[in-house]
Amino acid sequence: MTGKKEDRGKFRTPSLRNIGQTGPYMHDGSKKSLTDFVEFYYRGVPTGSGGQAPDVQPLLGQSFSEIPAIVAFLESLTGEAPKIVPPFLP
Ligand code: HEM
Repeated sequence: MTGKKEDRGKFRTPSLRNIGQTGPYMHDGSKKSLTDFVEFYYRGVPTGSGGQAPDVQPLLGQSFSEIPAIVAFLESLTGEAPKIVPPFLP
């Protein structure tokens, strides 16, 4: 967004509210479904040229059979969004 090299890999942390309805996912829309998204993290986040933190590790030791349960959890976060009224500031 800024074009500055030092800003590469910086993203606003998105809300998970209604995440089941807001695909495609990630800043570039590269993950079409929540299953694609969770598999991405299970396989390991690419490091190096993309500018990501080198300490991000793949979820080794986890079973791929857990993926549907995590997707079901994310889909359970669907509901009516609360109306947030900004407070009046003096
Ligand atoms: C169990 C814990 C977590 C789950 C289930 C989770 C899930 C997700 C999901 C579903 C997205 C895609 C959102 C979208 O595209 O609209 C996402 C993206 C993201 N998450 Fe998490 N997240 C977790 C923990 C965290 C934590 C702890 C942080 C930061 C401290 C974080 C930072 C981010 C950021 C910056 C993105 C955007 C990445 C991008 O657009 O490329 N997440 N996460």
